[in-house]
Amino acid sequence: MEDVKAIEWVNGRVRLLDQTRLPHEEVYLELEDHHQMAAAIREMRVRGAPLIGIAAAYGMALGAQHIEASNIEDFLTQLRPIAEALAATRPTAINLSWALKRMTLAAQAAADPQAAREALVAEALRIHQENADADRRLGQHGVQLIPAGSAVLTHCNTGSLATGGSGTALGIIRAAWEQDKLSRVYLSETRPLLQGARLTAWELARDGIPATLIADGAAGFLMQRRDAIACVIVGADRIAANGDVANKIGTYTLAVLASEHAIPFYVAAPTSTIDLSSASGDQIPIEERPSEEVTTFAGVAVAPAGIEALNPAFDITPHRYVSAIITERGVAREPYAESLPQLFQQEGVRHA
Ligand code: MRU
Repeated sequence: MEDVKAIEWVNGRVRLLDQTRLPHEEVYLELEDHHQMAAAIREMRVRGAPLIGIAAAYGMALGAQHIEASNIEDFLTQLRPIAEALAATRPTAINLSWALKRMTLAAQAAADPQAAREALVAEALRIHQENADADRRLGQHGVQLIPAGSAVLTHCNTGSLATGGSGTALGIIRAAWEQDKLSRVYLSETRPLLQGARLTAWELARDGIPATLIADGAAGFLMQRRDAIACVIVGADRIAANGDVANKIGTYTLAVLASEHAIPFYVAAPTSTIDLSSASGDQIPIEERPSEEVTTFAGVAVAPAGIEALNPAFDITPHRYVSAIITERGVAREPYAESLPQLFQQEGVRHA
């Protein structure tokens, strides 16, 4: 099945599938400038760490089309606030600042404003293509860890709607399905914004992969039943140098439960998600989102007015719970402080 086109550069504009409208409606937005892109990222019309990076890159290319400058210095001066506005949208996924750094370098290498505009479009397209290629390679590495006949549990959405390719954790699940290794996918609904129920369920249904949705709180019950789950596979928004993983809120809970039940817990992410400059998870900023996302459900209040609500969008899973980190460059295991830097020593890997 062909991957969903979550984002596309079309004739100087960006065509974006509005993920807040899924699964009920497939609505595409046409974005013309970086302000619209920054709003789309903040409002989670486009989301998922790798796709946020791609979206920010296209956002910078959009913004550059509107810069009027007579020389490259002036152009670069005007480009800086565009990058800063995009960088300020969501703090946790490192792919965002990783992509913006690459875009800035591409513009800096240009001789004049027109060449810089063209270089920015070319670099954004390259980042997008590289992500799709990384997904494919990551899927091939990851599928080798899945025993035949497995049921796996995943969290949030890590598919085409999150990466611009076939997905990270979901890419592995797709590869396992193609190789006839998968019996079923259990997916947690992923409160409060329901990326599992709305987005992963939608992607799996499109592909005809057998899927069972569970409430987040049902994961322990499922793991307690012997042999119900062969492994848990999730994505990541940022991985620290010691292997601590920032991912969608609820990931840590799943990792501790998996450990209690001796179920392997795998994290799948491209190397662009690894942040060697963060020594541990303590240094990763965690986005806090509006409390209304918790106190309401599809716009309807589910809690008494005035109740205080905490809404961290991500949590940190300590590396001791992570059985392996699967990347497009291969599989890293403990000690991550050694195995993660080794991934970057291989030729041709760019990192922040
Ligand atoms: O808040 P979101 O929906 O952007 O969070 C997404 C996740 O946490 C994903 O698991 C992560 O970005 C990996 S996507 C391949």
